[in-house]
Amino acid sequence: LIHLLSIEGLPRATIHQILDTAGSFLSVNDREVKKVPLLRGKSVFNLFFENSTRTRTTFEIAAKRLSADVINLDIARSSTAKGESLLDTIANLSAMHADMFVVRHAESGAPYLIAQHVAPHVHVVNAGDGRHAHPTQGLLDMYTIRHYKKDFTGLTVAVVGDIVHSRVARSDIHALNILGVPEVRAVGPKTLVPGDLREMGVRVCHDMAEGIRDADVIIMLRLQNERMSGAMLPSAGEFFKTFGLTPEKLALAKPDAIVMHPGPINRGVEIDSVVADGGQSVILPQVTFGIAVRMAVMSIIAGNLC
Ligand code: CP
Repeated sequence: LIHLLSIEGLPRATIHQILDTAGSFLSVNDREVKKVPLLRGKSVFNLFFENSTRTRTTFEIAAKRLSADVINLDIARSSTAKGESLLDTIANLSAMHADMFVVRHAESGAPYLIAQHVAPHVHVVNAGDGRHAHPTQGLLDMYTIRHYKKDFTGLTVAVVGDIVHSRVARSDIHALNILGVPEVRAVGPKTLVPGDLREMGVRVCHDMAEGIRDADVIIMLRLQNERMSGAMLPSAGEFFKTFGLTPEKLALAKPDAIVMHPGPINRGVEIDSVVADGGQSVILPQVTFGIAVRMAVMSIIAGNLC
């Protein structure tokens, strides 16, 4: 593995290797990660052309825990604003001896373009490209599910909300399929849940009760307003009434179901605060696990673990 651009096509063994490696970085209480020298002397460039709180910060922490030098390019103040192209930016940062680029971009495929143009020793990690893929989010979601449910083979997982615009949904569905989850459901209104997901073996549900009944895992997604035009955009109140996860709706799932969300959450739109902050929510542990999972990805693609 030289780059991590998508989960699609990854062997099951590689996903388990990443999750096992992440586990090895976490201490006994599963909350802290110790500093290790695996990327000492390497330069990791964080290039976030789209906003981020969790992904950018946890990549920075992960790289620092691996003893790398971390450079966070402030895109808004960079020469991108003067019209410098993406590939010219990459060429110039490569001239500063970059070893790894962590890239988030609004255009699907941007990290692939970069991967085609960097020197063979340089690694690229996709930190979210358009509506295409968010592989490290998918991997940290799998880490979270394995942590709480131990095994993937008997699970029912419901992914709920704005799936059509969600790179997280696509990465999660690929990962869940590769890991052998027998029932993956995509739940939401017809406008936001494309029927062609059935070709990925997904059960499409336009009824919330049907979608979350007896689920072991519920992954809630926010409405990606920034990727929607007016006609498509449901009203927040209407969406909450139909697909918002409330305690009453959560009661339809298994009693020990976990509630996940990649963040940022929109309280009162896709999720009730009582559920987001409740005992079944694992939204904040997801964030914590993201540090170890990103450490695992970076150390494996850099070739310092095999
Ligand atoms: N889950 C996620 O990608 O969050 P950020 O946009 O804050 O990075």
